[in-house]
Amino acid sequence: MTLPLQQTEEIFRSLNRELWVVTSADTSRRGGLLATWVYQASLDPAKPVILAGLAPNHHTTELVARSGRLAVHLLTLEQSELAWNFARDSGRQRDKLLGISLNPSIDDVPVLTDCHSYLVGSVFASLETGDRTYFWADITACEKQASTVPLCERQFIDWCDAEQKDVLRSDRQGDIELQRDLQYRFRQDIPEWLRFPG
Ligand SMILES: Cc1cc2nc3c(=O)[nH]c(=O)nc-3n(C[C@H](O)[C@H](O)[C@H](O)COP(=O)(O)O)c2cc1C
Repeated sequence: MTLPLQQTEEIFRSLNRELWVVTSADTSRRGGLLATWVYQASLDPAKPVILAGLAPNHHTTELVARSGRLAVHLLTLEQSELAWNFARDSGRQRDKLLGISLNPSIDDVPVLTDCHSYLVGSVFASLETGDRTYFWADITACEKQASTVPLCERQFIDWCDAEQKDVLRSDRQGDIELQRDLQYRFRQDIPEWLRFPG
């Protein structure tokens, strides 16, 4: 049976996921990226956990892996420009947080002052699966600053002009090509404890 690849892509594209700005810092560098792969990973309100899936080639992923700290922010509908700032290129080339107001009461992870809401996390587990590194983090601080709906992927993409869409498309294509090989190598050598016994 041939998999209807175009339909698979259409099904995923019919989603409209929330956008998160994920930030982190180590002793000498700081950075952040735009992500859809951030989830609530515990139902227990007494022990809230987030799970973030970040690509291993991204600068922010390195920072989270080194520091074990991250903050995830939802944005308001008016903050597409800020989303663009975190999506358009790598933090290895520039300080994406330059000129952005940061919460002065949290000093080991950059927390944006101006956002819909944020959660700060301390990583307690991580898993590398080739094209993604998953980080589970206990929430140590949070604040909800807006009661409106947060910015989602479709609203952000509609806001981008043709040139910006081209940049995002080519960044995504680069990631797909690089991560395809990483995913392939992971599948060749899945550790015994993680392999499905099928
Ligand atoms: C709509 C959208 C969703 C994205 N979701 C993720 C994601 O869940 N995880 C991830 O690692 N990168 C994601 N990216 C890609 C990063 O935001 C992008 O490659 C960024 O420039 C990486 O920055 P860094 O190298 O400074 O960390 C997404 C990009 C867009 C436009």
